[in-house]
Amino acid sequence: MTRPILTVLAGAVLAVGLAAPAASAGLDGEKLFKRKCGACHFVTDKKKLGPGLAGVFGRTAGTFKPFNYSRSMKAAGRADPPLVWSAETIDAYLENPKEYIPKNKMALRPIRKPAERAAIIKYMEQATAAQ
Ligand code: HEC
Repeated sequence: MTRPILTVLAGAVLAVGLAAPAASAGLDGEKLFKRKCGACHFVTDKKKLGPGLAGVFGRTAGTFKPFNYSRSMKAAGRADPPLVWSAETIDAYLENPKEYIPKNKMALRPIRKPAERAAIIKYMEQATAAQ
């Protein structure tokens, strides 16, 4: 009696598991970046409402000189160990900016969908390096 139900459940778990790695496929990271980040960030070394993001991968948080960061962002970069931006740390920040760095001043609504974050980060890896 329970077997068909279990089979359906197993199928669902498998589908979710398979969807994850190919997550960003099909999403346009450049478009998402423009829509969700572009009002405040350039991928170049020019500041806007937020810091310029050129070379952000490997950069210590709060260290883009021309930008006036919040205290909490500067403190994150001075912590021991300091917060350094990478695909992983940016992913965590975008998932919930206020939780990841309490009192930081980036007014971005949490991006809950892993696939969207992955697509944006993939685009950023190319765009912020190509300066
Ligand atoms: C409403 C404006 C706004 C939006 C939208 C926004 N940001 Fe930001 N961002 C900021 C501000 C302001 C800071 C600096 C925060 C601080 O000093 O506390 C920041 C900081 C950052 C940092 C840390 C940079 C550093 O030099 O330490 C990263 C990475 C970042 N944003 C990525 C993104 C991405 C990716 C998106 C889109 C998914 C995005 N931001 C959307 C305003 C914004």
